[in-house]
Amino acid sequence: MKKIAILTSGGDAPGMNAAIRAVVRTALHHGLEVVGVQRGYAGLINGELFEMDRSSVSDIIHRGGTILRTARCLEFKQEEVRKEAAELLAQNGVDALVVIGGDGSFMGAKLLSKLGVKTIGLPGTIDNDLSYTDYTIGFDTALNTVIEGVDKIRDTSSSHERVSIVEVMGRNCGDLALYAGVACGAEYTITPEKGFDKDELCEVIKEGKEVGKIHNLVLLAEGIGGAYDLAKYVEAQTGIETRATILGHIQRGGSPSAFDRVLASRMGSKAVEVLLEGKTSRVIGIKENQIFDQDIDEALALGRKFDEKLFSISEEISK
Ligand code: ADP
Ligand code: F6P
Repeated sequence: MKKIAILTSGGDAPGMNAAIRAVVRTALHHGLEVVGVQRGYAGLINGELFEMDRSSVSDIIHRGGTILRTARCLEFKQEEVRKEAAELLAQNGVDALVVIGGDGSFMGAKLLSKLGVKTIGLPGTIDNDLSYTDYTIGFDTALNTVIEGVDKIRDTSSSHERVSIVEVMGRNCGDLALYAGVACGAEYTITPEKGFDKDELCEVIKEGKEVGKIHNLVLLAEGIGGAYDLAKYVEAQTGIETRATILGHIQRGGSPSAFDRVLASRMGSKAVEVLLEGKTSRVIGIKENQIFDQDIDEALALGRKFDEKLFSISEEISK
């Protein structure tokens, strides 16, 4: 192992820069050369490679986004294109590729590894939708951004005695909605994993009004979506003024939280250690505060995870 490459792919996530920094600095510490790839798999197939030294990652630990840029590259789903990428890495003397991204990016890494490229995946996504790990890099920061937004919405919601429906990101995963629901004391949380009944929601809102609640916060995961239509329905059924807010891409930006910076640093360091041990086709995760590596096929084959206990807590303590 002499030279490694690193890229970020899919939706950006706060903490990706901290992960890049950790990978680069750990690799340099062990005498490896590092090549950055710009714009994810799109940049890889276009040969957008550049040498990185310790100053390439100076002053980035606190920055959101990704200095390597990112992209969604549909061509990478074609085997021919992946073969070209594998050849390009070999031509540049690259022994292994570190991919920071979500499940789609991991699928690309897994398929690339079948072509003989040594790959390691670091989970970078605000969605927290990778079952093998308790947390992905970026989730905690996005959650804190959601909480800040919802706390503000609560103020105006209470003043006007309204229902507020807040739609958050997460793709098909309800974790951002669930954790934010608990952290913000939402009256009702809607996730793709549990589904919901519109009329039951209206009943909960009416009951809340009867027991003297002055606001009704509803956290809605985008995997179900339809915040504006739902708001109209709730207003019509309950007679209570209802507003919808879709938080959108604000959830993807901002300086990473302490948790994400530390998580990214630990995971980035582990990625290089794993490569130095001669392992390949692995992903890095965290469980019970221990950083571990796991086979990429095994990790991607796991079913969806959902914290049923946290969901029932959120239901019990919101009443
Ligand atoms: P994320 O990694 O955040 O889940 P995407 O699902 O958009 O984001 O995937 C990011 C990129 O990973 C895609 O644009 C594509 O380049 C690559 N990718 C996704 N799915 C596959 C696949 N089935 N085969 C090969 N590459 C894939
Ligand atoms: O995967 C991260 C994510 O922000 C999802 O939560 C969301 O569904 C998607 O990306 C949005 O993608 P785009 O940035 O292409 O609008």
